[in-house]
Amino acid sequence: MRATAIAQPNIALIKYWGKRDLSRNLPAVGSISITLRDLFTEMNVELDDSLRSDKLSVNGSIDSKMLPRLSSCLDEVAGANRARANIVSKCNFPIAAGLASSASAFAATTVAASNAAGRSSTVAELANLAGRSSGSAARSLLGGFVELENRDEDIALNVLQECDSWPLVVVVAITEAGPKAVGSTEAMEISRKTSPFYTSWVERQDEDLSTARDAIMRRDFEQLAAVAEHNCLKMHSVMWASRPPIVYWNSATMRCLQTVRKLQGEGIGTFFTIDAGPQVKAVCLPEDAATVQAALAATAGVSDIMVSGLGDGARLVTGA
Ligand code: PMV
Repeated sequence: MRATAIAQPNIALIKYWGKRDLSRNLPAVGSISITLRDLFTEMNVELDDSLRSDKLSVNGSIDSKMLPRLSSCLDEVAGANRARANIVSKCNFPIAAGLASSASAFAATTVAASNAAGRSSTVAELANLAGRSSGSAARSLLGGFVELENRDEDIALNVLQECDSWPLVVVVAITEAGPKAVGSTEAMEISRKTSPFYTSWVERQDEDLSTARDAIMRRDFEQLAAVAEHNCLKMHSVMWASRPPIVYWNSATMRCLQTVRKLQGEGIGTFFTIDAGPQVKAVCLPEDAATVQAALAATAGVSDIMVSGLGDGARLVTGA
């Protein structure tokens, strides 16, 4: 009745933004991401009949804020009549700051809870279970370049390229470490209901998915860079045009973009992407990663830098 799993966060290159079914948390669009190697969340789930309620500790401290979402995730995986759980989480990067901490947390929880409950679920089943808690979490179940396909009634995952076959490096520039002001579910709903660009965002997504898929299959960095930056800026334009506007950026976010643009002008292989937070992720060719790291570290307003290669999907560490 006890299992531990590890998962890494993933960074979307073609973004998921918007839900077509809020109750089942189904995305309005497909997406493509890369799974990181060096940032991780470990989840230990112990189902215990003697417990009266679920308990969660994150990095050694009791956490009641995240607990309701994790309890719902356990209900999805093990059924609402399950034994209550003691959940112990360890995470080596800032939580809820636009670094996909929820993706790695829910991917690891789904894998650990499924094992602790004695289920032997397929990746497709785990993907749909994890996806109900966090739309992007399903992508952390697999490694390398992962496509999340949006089907009529569910979602499906597909590895486009293994992590070792195109070993890009991600440099994350932290510009603000605190938790974000508006959570992604609330922000997506505001966009869906009020942004004049939302419908065209959804309608044009297949084009970007197909361009990115083709670039990844052929390992064409320039093509991937162009479509990923375009898709990211398009997603933020949808947010900015919402009422009220949703602006996750700060002035250092913009300065990091200028740093990346300058590096590109010097022939350095890098491109940016930004999620629901002010951090900038620069995806780099391995030989250019050190240059990008130094340039972002020297950019005003960057408080910290994290570097990661690409890694594998979620996995069980201990369990039955
Ligand atoms: O899975 P959520 O609800 O945390 O939403 C993720 C949204 C983005 O990070 C902005 C884009 C993505 O595809 O990961």
